[in-house]
Amino acid sequence: MSGELETVSDIESLRECIRGWRSAGKRIGFVPTMGNLHQGHLALVREAQRKSDRCVVSLFVNPMQFGAGEDYDSYPRTLEQDRAKLQDAGVELLFTPSVSAIYPVGEDQQTRVEVPGISHILCGASRPRHFVGVATIVCKFFNLVQPDLAVFGEKDYQQLIVIRRMVADLAIPVDILGLSTVREADGLAKSSRNGYLSADERALAPKLYETLRLTAEALAAGDRDIEQLEAKGLERLRTAGFRPDYFAIRRAHDLAPATRQDHALVILAAAYLGTTRLIDNLNAAEQHI
Ligand code: PAJ
Repeated sequence: MSGELETVSDIESLRECIRGWRSAGKRIGFVPTMGNLHQGHLALVREAQRKSDRCVVSLFVNPMQFGAGEDYDSYPRTLEQDRAKLQDAGVELLFTPSVSAIYPVGEDQQTRVEVPGISHILCGASRPRHFVGVATIVCKFFNLVQPDLAVFGEKDYQQLIVIRRMVADLAIPVDILGLSTVREADGLAKSSRNGYLSADERALAPKLYETLRLTAEALAAGDRDIEQLEAKGLERLRTAGFRPDYFAIRRAHDLAPATRQDHALVILAAAYLGTTRLIDNLNAAEQHI
């Protein structure tokens, strides 16, 4: 039987709870989310619980990381269901701040955190403010929650790399754990945005992961013509009915363009099905050629 899940929205109550735990020497694990929780989020929660004494989950649909015309307004908000899942999972504290509690001086006047370079490639190329919004909110949450460790999904691989860089550059005392992507039975990465797909789009969606897998197989078989593999991936996605944004083979640790000499690689893709933007990635097997 799990204990009660406490839900707090104001910063003072959060700080009070954290103060109590820290002075009792508890190790705090943290999982930031935007809610509409699925098995991917819950896998992160279990990992945080395994490595800590108290688990804090935040649920905040962060306006700063959405661009104009993106899905901030329509993003699924399912607080009651989310609360029930976290209660069942045995989470101790849910933090659900309002936008005005987080950005009291307004989003435009808010101090921001920018990780240069990496924030402006791949997803950052088509969503120019996105990773500044992510780095700013995650940094603010780290200061509020003061976790010993925080768990993020590899599903958002570039986000994970941005956060690792931010934590290293700003010497934030938190361990960042990355967890592998939780998928549907047909391979589609679980995502709050999958709910936007029509039945026809949902049937096509696993082709994104399939294309990543085919590319990983080609790399594992010794094909090192990166440019051609990327072009083939894009073409395959177009033929399947996607409108690809990018299909890229990169160095796993910093997302720099891969060369024939690099062995730890990640294949990343973003593609639209109708108006829904899906992202996915796959670590390619290490190869010595
Ligand atoms: P959100 O999309 O809600 O994701 C919260 C966390 O769950 C992220 O670390 C994400 O990578 C992870 N996640 C999502 N789908 C997953 C899956 N299928 N398998 C494993 N992990 C998965 O990412 C965000 O929110 C926001 O940008 C946030 C970090 C909360 C900042 O606002």
